[in-house]
Amino acid sequence: MRALVTGAAGGLGEAVAARLVRDRWSAALVDCAEAVRELAARLAAEADGPVVAFVADVADVAEVDAAVAAAVDALGGLDLVVNIAGVGGPSTTVVATDPDDFRRVLDVNLVGPFLVSRAAARSMIDRGEGGAIVNFGSIFGQQGVAGGAAYCASKGGLALLTHSLARELAPHGIRVNTIAPGHMATEMHWEELRGRAALNGTSFGDELAAVRAEIPLGRHGTGEDVAGAVAWLASADAVYVTGQTIGVNGGVILS
Ligand SMILES: NC(=O)c1ccc[n+]([C@@H]2O[C@H](COP(=O)([O-])OP(=O)(O)OC[C@H]3O[C@@H](n4cnc5c(N)ncnc54)[C@H](O)[C@@H]3O)[C@@H](O)[C@H]2O)c1
Repeated sequence: MRALVTGAAGGLGEAVAARLVRDRWSAALVDCAEAVRELAARLAAEADGPVVAFVADVADVAEVDAAVAAAVDALGGLDLVVNIAGVGGPSTTVVATDPDDFRRVLDVNLVGPFLVSRAAARSMIDRGEGGAIVNFGSIFGQQGVAGGAAYCASKGGLALLTHSLARELAPHGIRVNTIAPGHMATEMHWEELRGRAALNGTSFGDELAAVRAEIPLGRHGTGEDVAGAVAWLASADAVYVTGQTIGVNGGVILS
């Protein structure tokens, strides 16, 4: 079992990479941060198969194509791709948002998964062994919020990219699903709370308490929470699941 995970250098991606390696997957870890190399070396020490790292910007077509080709070479193919790399984007109203900032969020969060899925799916189709792709959306791809239009648009677009890919790749035995995390305890979320506090004239503590109060299960989510969902979607137990959005959100959005 061979997986490629983007955004693996930290946050949710690191937890997903660690879980897959613990579950005996070989793994190619991709991130724009050099720290991904240290993580791969650390995980490789306890892995059954190869764990390799590639530093690449998921929004750059040449870097993505090179990283995916190198991952396929290193692992002997891919059975799973997890598109986790993402950025939070500006906490600004639409009228105050710089178009370059808006475009960069779409480039990383939407064009990135498109480029990675495109390169990986070509290889999966050629090998004819099926596989799975998991895209990391968000509760903010299911519902727009004030002060987060770029991020919401990117994650909403990603949910529909997942639908199109699921239909296109089903004949090849490749399942494509979205995981939509809720409020997760990572640096991206803390940054979002700092942005909201600045926008609303409140404090970080006020925003943290307000978010907590919205979560029916009463706590922020963790990397392990989403890693379990990835492990299930990648497993034979999910063999009839494609084109779905799986909420891992503590009950913030009910479907
Ligand atoms: N934290 C949350 O509350 C939350 C909620 C819903 C969805 N998500 C989504 O989950 C994913 C992971 O979020 P996180 O909280 O772990 O964020 P994070 O900021 O902790 O980690 C993101 C990772 O992506 C990498 N990355 C960023 N831009 C990249 C690029 N252009 N190319 C390659 N790598 C890049 C970063 O270096 C980092 O390692 C993101 O897609 C995010 O939108 C997070």
